[in-house]
Amino acid sequence: MRVTASAPGKLMLMGDHAVVYGYPCLVTAVDLRYQATVEKHLGTQILLETPMMRKNERKFEISKDALLNRSDFPRAAAFVLAAVRSFYQRYPFEGGLKIRTDGPIISYGLGSSSAVTAATVAALTALHHFSVPNQTLFEIAFDAVLEVQGKGSGFDVASAVYGGTLFYEQGGEVIEPIAVGDLPVVIGFSGEKVSTTDLVEQVSQLKSRNPETVDGIFNMIGKLVRKARYSIESQDWQTLGDLLNLNQGMLDALGVSTLQLSKQIIAAREAGAYGAKLSGAGGGDCMFALAEPGIEHGVSEGIENAGGEIVRIRTGVSGVRIEPN
Ligand code: PMV
Repeated sequence: MRVTASAPGKLMLMGDHAVVYGYPCLVTAVDLRYQATVEKHLGTQILLETPMMRKNERKFEISKDALLNRSDFPRAAAFVLAAVRSFYQRYPFEGGLKIRTDGPIISYGLGSSSAVTAATVAALTALHHFSVPNQTLFEIAFDAVLEVQGKGSGFDVASAVYGGTLFYEQGGEVIEPIAVGDLPVVIGFSGEKVSTTDLVEQVSQLKSRNPETVDGIFNMIGKLVRKARYSIESQDWQTLGDLLNLNQGMLDALGVSTLQLSKQIIAAREAGAYGAKLSGAGGGDCMFALAEPGIEHGVSEGIENAGGEIVRIRTGVSGVRIEPN
C-alpha cells in the first residue's frame, strides 16, 4: 500500500514576530502544495527520496534505530525525518518505510518545510489505517518542526494542517478559521533571505536591549491583528490596508525589513494598493499588497519595476489531505 498526502504553503498576513511572544497572528494557506508519499518496506531502514531539494544528496537512508537516536540530519531530509520520528514516538510501527517528497522547486519562503512535515505525518497516519483530528496532526508536525528549527510559533504548521485563513495564537492554543475565500493580494518575491531563526534571534536581542519598547510594539501588533481579523471577515479592504501599513511600520521599527522589500512595498502603495507589508520573518522572501482586481495589474507592475518577482497563487486553499494514488 502506498499513500500520498499533500499540504499547502502559507502566507503570513499579520502578526509576524509578535506571534513568537504569545501575540496572535493571521495566516492564509497558499496554493503551492507539497506532497509526501509513504509505503512500507521490509527491514528496518527508512529510505527517503527528496527530488524537490536541489542541492546535495537527493537520496537518504537511515535505520529506524539511528532515526530515533539522531537529531542532526542533513537539512534537506531533516523535516521529513523529524516528522517520522515524532509520529513514531506517539504511534510506534513495525518495519521500514519508503518516503518520497515532491513539490515546487522554488518555494519563495512560503512554508515548504511545514507543508512537507504536515504531509508526511498525514500520510503516515493513513498508511497505518487510522485518522487523527487536525489538532493531533498539528501537534505531531509542530514537535517535528521545533526539533529541527529550535524556535517557531507553529503558525505555518497550523496553516499547512487546517488550510484556509486562520487566526492563530502561539503554540496552537487558539486556531480559528476566518470565513473568507481567496484574498485580493498580490505577492512579490524579493530574493533570498537570511534564516528565519537568525531574524527571530535578532529581534530577541533587540528586545533584551529595549524590553519595554519592544513589548510595546508587540502589544500594538497584537491589537492590529485583532482588528484586522474583523476587517477580513467584513471584507473591509480599506481598513485592512491601513492595518497592514501600520503593521509594516512596526516591522520596520523591529529592523527586519530590507531595502528591496521596502522598495516593493512603497511601489505597491504608490500604484494604488490599499496597503502592503512584508510577510514572515523579513530579511528577504516575500511582501504582499492588498489590491482590488481592477488595480491588481498596476500594482503588479509597480512591484516588478521595483525589482520584485510576482508569485501568482491563490490563498485560503484547503489544508493537508490524502491524495488519490
Ligand atoms: O520567515 P517565515 O515565513 O518562516 O515566518 C517566520 C515568522 C516568525 O513570526 C518570525 C517566526 C514564527 O515562527 O512565527
